[in-house]
Amino acid sequence: MIEVSYLVAQSLDGRIADATGGVGWLDAWHHPDEDYGLGAFMATVDAIVMGRRTYEFCRALPEWPYPAHVSVVCSRAPLPDLPPQVRATAEPPELVAHHLAAAGHRHVWLLGGGQLAAAWSARRLISRLVVFVIPEVLGAGPSLIDGPGPHPTLQRLALHAYANGVTRLEYRPAPPA
Ligand SMILES: NC(=O)c1ccc[n+]([C@@H]2O[C@H](COP(=O)([O-])OP(=O)(O)OC[C@H]3O[C@@H](n4cnc5c(N)ncnc54)[C@H](OP(=O)(O)O)[C@@H]3O)[C@@H](O)[C@H]2O)c1
Repeated sequence: MIEVSYLVAQSLDGRIADATGGVGWLDAWHHPDEDYGLGAFMATVDAIVMGRRTYEFCRALPEWPYPAHVSVVCSRAPLPDLPPQVRATAEPPELVAHHLAAAGHRHVWLLGGGQLAAAWSARRLISRLVVFVIPEVLGAGPSLIDGPGPHPTLQRLALHAYANGVTRLEYRPAPPA
């Protein structure tokens, strides 16, 4: 059984990026002495799955940010010039998860964005949702889960309030009724 964690930062109004797709609004919340548990999380992750728009954001960075991990980019169109360790697929979410599990992966970070997360959520493929709520209002931009359901009801597993105003919420899907 493969575990899929959608770990993501959202604004108070549920946006994961601003209206231009940018995440520069998160910069002010990065601190050298607080990694919000991301290092420990990454140590448990053996593959990363992302949507094409999130890939394009990552690809535009000076360096590919996840060179130590196998990454799968979900796109219905061919993607040229992929970095090492990155492959693209047009498979539906359940097949992507199945093939990662068959290849021996055990813990996937569903990096985002909201459209891809919605597709995985609607198929009940997200086993853990970890949301960092940033106390800012963006007013526009892609949503945390940006697509139709039905989406599972969630059970809260944990809540941590950081002194700087960030809140970490962790959920898992409730068992089907
Ligand atoms: N705050 C955070 O922690 C965080 C984390 C991740 C991303 N982001 C931001 O989120 C933004 C992108 O999110 P987004 O929601 O706009 O896009 P997205 O989910 O990253 O990408 C959507 C694209 O994924 C492809 N796709 C393949 N299979 C799909 C499926 N079954 N369902 C839906 N899409 C599928 C499609 O690409 P094709 O059109 O090529 O088929 C679709 O257009 C970026 O600005 C990124 O920076 C923020």
